[in-house]
Amino acid sequence: MKKTQLITTVLEYDSIEELDSINQKLINKAKEATQSSYSPYSKFSVGAAILLENGEIIQGSNQENSAYPSGLCAERVAMFYANSKYPDVPVKSIAIACFTNGQFLERPIPPCGSCRQVLLETEERHKTPMQVFLYGQKQILEIENIKQLLPLYFEKDMLDE
Ligand code: THU
Repeated sequence: MKKTQLITTVLEYDSIEELDSINQKLINKAKEATQSSYSPYSKFSVGAAILLENGEIIQGSNQENSAYPSGLCAERVAMFYANSKYPDVPVKSIAIACFTNGQFLERPIPPCGSCRQVLLETEERHKTPMQVFLYGQKQILEIENIKQLLPLYFEKDMLDE
């Protein structure tokens, strides 16, 4: 028997000013994206902003539906759009923010499991680590890649074995 610990490293900031200007810009784009959320059911407006290696920033927000499971999270809206517009351009980073009850959350929200799986496939596809910034008014978290968020992940190559 072998015991292995899978560890996630998280950097924590108290304010956006502690980050580099490009990361501040990305977070502000994620905050801006919350305003295009269509979330009449949850009233939980999530915004995502993705920085591509070509310098372009792609925004997305959660899009809900009266048939609830048909809706999609902000992260996947942004990620699928980025992949369909620029299939060959690696992703450098993603920022996520949430606006609800008239304000941005004080503590950040992490991406759901399905979004992690989708983001991971893009990270693997381009063999480029995708940095993650989770925005909260009182706390910002940084994770160095998606694999850190999804230990023991399922991937494409496993289909061939
Ligand atoms: N949601 C996101 O867009 N991203 C997340 O990381 C968590 C949840 C959305 C899905 C749904 O529209 C609403 O937030 C409440 O779950």
